[in-house]
Amino acid sequence: MNKEDVIAVFDSGVGGISVLRHLVRLMPGERYVYFGDSANAPYGTRPTEQVRQLTMAAAEKLMTGTPAKALVLACNTATAAAVTALRERYPDRIIVGIEPALKVAADHFPHGRVGVMATEVTLREEKFDTLLHRFENACTVAKIPAPGLVELIESGKGNGPETRTLLEKILGPYVGKLDALVLGCTHYPFAAGTIGKILGPETALLDGGEGTARETRRRLAQAGLLEEGSGGVEILNSLNDPKVLSLSRKLLNEER
Ligand code: DGL
Repeated sequence: MNKEDVIAVFDSGVGGISVLRHLVRLMPGERYVYFGDSANAPYGTRPTEQVRQLTMAAAEKLMTGTPAKALVLACNTATAAAVTALRERYPDRIIVGIEPALKVAADHFPHGRVGVMATEVTLREEKFDTLLHRFENACTVAKIPAPGLVELIESGKGNGPETRTLLEKILGPYVGKLDALVLGCTHYPFAAGTIGKILGPETALLDGGEGTARETRRRLAQAGLLEEGSGGVEILNSLNDPKVLSLSRKLLNEER
């Protein structure tokens, strides 16, 4: 692999843009190819084997066509289902996954009350159980699935009234009861404004995007593959629709 090769970033749709914006901020001199599989989103309600197959197929294109020096799985669901298989298939590449930021929550709020909002797949996979066991004595964790939220964000309604109605229903029982809410799906930071309004300032909102970007930089530096060129971002999507590309660009430039 060469320094000049791209960093591939993958998600089931537009959610991974929330990680991409941290990557670009941290390493502006790199070239990125972002691929969102919006034609098959959401992944989070599918059988695990299907998520694995979709992720492997997308990775195959990114690894061989481009080629990529690193693959960032900017999707908690795809990471839970496929990171092990990907590392076996591409042992010579840097593969960085993302998991719900429970460690950050436990570090900031010792013995605190923490909610983890994530997809069905993420919450039911063994990887999440292992994570829970690591922190079970450090904080009290509530698992919060959010069916329907990814679809709203995919259609650009992350901070619209329908999202507010859905989130009020999901988060209503937790108002005043959480020190932190972990946004355990990369789509959810795009609804952070609404989530913050519902839960109020006493609940911190945490996500793994920045940590994933730092881990990517660490791995590239370790391999001597950090590039400080003129940089650039190419956005690809499996949905043949210009709207999804313009939504992706808009989200990339949105400040949280
Ligand atoms: N963005 C993905 C994640 O981080 C999941 C979205 C989906 O269900 O497709 O989990």
